[in-house]
Amino acid sequence: MNAELKQNMNKLVADLNVLYMKIHHFHWFVKGPNFFTLHAKFEELYNEVTEHNDSIAERLLQLNEKPISTLKECLDLATVKEASKVGTDVEMVEELVNDLETIDKELTATMELAGDDEGTADLLLGISESFQKHIWMFKAFLGK
Ligand SMILES: [Fe+2]
Repeated sequence: MNAELKQNMNKLVADLNVLYMKIHHFHWFVKGPNFFTLHAKFEELYNEVTEHNDSIAERLLQLNEKPISTLKECLDLATVKEASKVGTDVEMVEELVNDLETIDKELTATMELAGDDEGTADLLLGISESFQKHIWMFKAFLGK
């Protein structure tokens, strides 16, 4: 595996790990009339995100590479920033859309690096399709 593909896949592991914690923050601290909808939706999403994270890390292992496996490495490598304050429900969803779009761009770039490694490209494409659906739904929630 070329070094750039490995680096990008580990960056995805990092971003998905940070996002997993961040969606928990949203799940715990969301308030207001949308509480029941968003509390449940955020739980559904963090469960999905950790499955994708595991799949990418295990794909690295299948290809005889080592995924990063500490929170420090995740924070050093991730583009997604941790939650820094408790926002409104709308601010939470806006931030989530931004983060999902950031990771989706990384997925597309990493897919191109995968070249003829169809197993990796297919895995990343599946995650990208799912994220695009979530982006559409959260934007609909925002009235966009
Ligand atoms: Fe919960």
